[in-house]
Amino acid sequence: MTGPTKSDPGKSVRAPRGMPDLFGPGLDRLAGFQALGLKVLARHGFREIRTPLLEETRLFARATGATSDIVEKQMFTVPVAEGESYSMRPEGTPGVVRAYLELSLGKQRPFVKLSYAGPMFRYERPQAARQRQFHQVGAESFGSAEPLVDVDSILAGAAVLREAGLKKFQTKVNTIGCSTCRPALRDAVRTIALAAGGRLCESCRRRIDANPLRFLDCKEQGCRDAARSVPAPEEMVCADCRAHFGAVKSGLSAMEEPFTVEPRLVRGLDYYTRTVFEFSVPELGARDAVGGGGRYDDLVAEMGGPPTPCVGFALGVEATLLAMEKTGAAAADGDRPEAEVFVAVPVGEGRLAALRLAVRLRALGVSADLDLEGRSLKAQMRAADRIGARVVLLYGPDEEARGVVRWKPFRSSHGTSGDGTEEDIPIDEALRRLTPQAR
Ligand code: HAM
Repeated sequence: MTGPTKSDPGKSVRAPRGMPDLFGPGLDRLAGFQALGLKVLARHGFREIRTPLLEETRLFARATGATSDIVEKQMFTVPVAEGESYSMRPEGTPGVVRAYLELSLGKQRPFVKLSYAGPMFRYERPQAARQRQFHQVGAESFGSAEPLVDVDSILAGAAVLREAGLKKFQTKVNTIGCSTCRPALRDAVRTIALAAGGRLCESCRRRIDANPLRFLDCKEQGCRDAARSVPAPEEMVCADCRAHFGAVKSGLSAMEEPFTVEPRLVRGLDYYTRTVFEFSVPELGARDAVGGGGRYDDLVAEMGGPPTPCVGFALGVEATLLAMEKTGAAAADGDRPEAEVFVAVPVGEGRLAALRLAVRLRALGVSADLDLEGRSLKAQMRAADRIGARVVLLYGPDEEARGVVRWKPFRSSHGTSGDGTEEDIPIDEALRRLTPQAR
């Protein structure tokens, strides 16, 4: 018998490669990190915005940059009309900038801080924490060229990582100049790159004219060797950019936020000006960034808006969670039980009484589960164990008539345990013990 072929309608349908279904503890961790990220960012003054997953392709070509790897080869694009297409967003910044302009947010306030969290899409070779559908938590500040805003952005990103439990990460910063000094910086780097010629990798050779800076952080050995002879950009940028970078560094020092200057850091997106930064975890190996960002002072104007200096960053959720695993940090929300309380029915009858109790508990904000299939008490205990319940309440028509529940502190194989002994207690006392405010 021959196996199913690609076109075989009987072949089982699977999720697209690099786009895993999210479920169970993996989803708890991811959603927990996103929620925590937005909460921490709200505390830092960022207001959430949600933009579409699809945008016109030309938005990314203009913002992310026609010479970036992302636009060159990583976009999922669908044609919608003659000469018109939409692309799944590969990053959040372009959509947020478009929305900032479309909603005239700058007209309401001169300085605006926006946050976002959600899925992004890049056609990459899937590997550990590198997916085709992945998630970011990001933040963008619009309307100020002050170096303190760069500091504020870096502090916000670092705060999210720390609050999630990631302690061991490095913050790398660099400057790549502004529209005034960048042409000279590019020329200087291009001259060195051209001299290295054949030693550069194929994509850096191809990019020598359009974007020579990219070869500075290329991981290929030949490019790395050649990059060693390039002076630090900090020494080549204009006086204003140098002063700006100096103020960012002293601001971070004043806030006792650890960082290192990484002269080879240029980042892979075309919109950056001046400050660029990355949060990295060496335990992740070659692609060690859990997040990154920088200034993009020209992008809003390039997209037809008024001159509006901006700075922002995005954290990769999967990369951060993997980094937490590798560095032994606890993941947010990872061990949440499926239900805190399991209501067990002592005899085959009386499931309605148990359901009534579960509904009362749920209305009080307590997660409660029960057997709906008439299983034996033993099987119900196994179910309680599986979901990690803290407490089992034995409750049938007899208990309901007496106004009591049999309270059974429960030690499940997940290690959760209750204190005290098994006892009959009045129902109100049980509800009081279990409601979140009472704990
Ligand atoms: P980015 O460096 O392209 O920046 O992405 C930020 C983070 O997203 C990366 O450090 C990485 O952890 C994660 N990431 C990127 N691609 C993937 C993937 N295929 N799978 C899993 N994780 C991935 C940006 O996206 C900019 N928009 C950041 C920014 C905001 N700059 C200014 N404002």
